[in-house]
Amino acid sequence: MSRKVTVPLLREKKRKGEKITMITAYDYLSGKLADEAGFDIVLVGDSLGMVIKGESSTLSVTVEEMLYHTRITRRGVQRALLVADMPFLSYQVSEAEAIRNCGRMLKEGGAEAVKLEGGAWLAPLVERLVRAGIPVMGHLGLTPQSIHLLGGYRVQARTEEAAQELKRSAQALQEAGIFALVLEGVPAEVAREVTESLDIPTIGIGAGPYCDGQVLVFHDVLGLFEEFKPKFVKRYLEGARLMREALIRFREEIQQGVFPGEEHTYS
Ligand code: KIV
Repeated sequence: MSRKVTVPLLREKKRKGEKITMITAYDYLSGKLADEAGFDIVLVGDSLGMVIKGESSTLSVTVEEMLYHTRITRRGVQRALLVADMPFLSYQVSEAEAIRNCGRMLKEGGAEAVKLEGGAWLAPLVERLVRAGIPVMGHLGLTPQSIHLLGGYRVQARTEEAAQELKRSAQALQEAGIFALVLEGVPAEVAREVTESLDIPTIGIGAGPYCDGQVLVFHDVLGLFEEFKPKFVKRYLEGARLMREALIRFREEIQQGVFPGEEHTYS
């Protein structure tokens, strides 16, 4: 196994200009595959609301669900840094509740960091979490937990004013102590400016090529999620089609009496 990925190692990678690789995972198998494939960061994303639970947004995901999925992903991940996404309403109600919920992801889930969606308003909470020993990853731009405010999954920071606001938030979060920042659904030039203005690494999703790293959802990379495919997604496998074809063959062989053949039968 090459060097265990830690929070300081990620900053070192940015300093050396080495790209940071990140992917989501939700259970033992996806975590193990991502870890064996050599990703730096495995995120137990609240995207599980969509790709695991089949909901149309991430809003229904609970702390208990995130804990469960973090715990079972933990068993498959050895080298990568394991980050747990904090679900909607788990960190917005009060500071005490936020610290407890985030702390549980490390204490009970085995995560090594948490991710929070939101701008400069989160800075005081980030400071408290970091002081408590909880590494925090930020998330700006298209923040799916604010889907009803944003009015849909649309590219953000398109105006000069919105881009400046995003840059101010990125700076405030860095000062508060985040160790990395996800930039989702923003124009490539905005992502470039934010990336160049920060000491901490940025990880892009739908944010163009200039971020310090890239992340995609496991099910999108492997073509397992077929409901829709955003422009920024690249499928490296048509997983759902291949799995469906294999299942059809299995069902047909049962029906035709071909399975189990001699080689799959004890004598
Ligand atoms: O929930 C998630 O999967 C995410 C990533 C896409 C960054 O937040």
